[in-house]
Amino acid sequence: MSVVTSPTQTLREEHRVILRALALVELAADRLSGGGALPSGWWDALLEWLRAFADRNHHAKEETYLFPALAEAGVPAAGGPVGVMLEEHTEGRALIRAMSEGCGERRVDAARRYVHLLREHIDKENGVLFPLTDAVLDTAAQQALGREFETVEAEQGRDASIAHAEAEVDRLSRALEGA
Ligand SMILES: [Fe+2]
Repeated sequence: MSVVTSPTQTLREEHRVILRALALVELAADRLSGGGALPSGWWDALLEWLRAFADRNHHAKEETYLFPALAEAGVPAAGGPVGVMLEEHTEGRALIRAMSEGCGERRVDAARRYVHLLREHIDKENGVLFPLTDAVLDTAAQQALGREFETVEAEQGRDASIAHAEAEVDRLSRALEGA
C-alpha cells in the first residue's frame, strides 16, 4: 500500500515556498544595503511569515514528529544528520531575532546569513535527510507521521496552509516591486 502524499513530499512542498520567501529576504537585504527603503510594515510582515510558516509550522513538524520518528527507526537523535538539522534550526531562530532587533548593516548581515543558512539547510534535507526518511520509515510509520503533521496543521490553522503561505509571499513580492 502506498502513501498518497508522503510526509517528505509535504516538507519538500513547504521548502519550495520557503525558498520563494528567502529570495524576498535577499532582495530586501540588497535594497537595504543599497540605501533603499522597504514598504511600511513590510519587513515585520516578512519576519512574521518566517516565524509562522517556516518555524512554527515547518520546523515544528520536523522537530516534534519527523526527528523522533527517525530516532524510533534507529537514526540517532544526537549527532549525524538530525543533530546538524537541529543546530541549524536553532541558528535560524537566532538569526530571525537578529533580523528583528538589529538595524542597518547588522540587519542586512543577519538577513544574508539567514538566507545562506536556510538554502544550504534545505539542500541537505532534500538531498540527504528526506531520502533517508523515505528509506527507513515503513508505510505505517509514514502514515502515522502524516497524521501527526495534520495535528500541527490543525493547531496552526491557516498559518500552516501552503496556499495561504504562498498567497502572502505573492503579496509581499508585489508590495516590494511596487515600492
Ligand atoms: Fe525543512
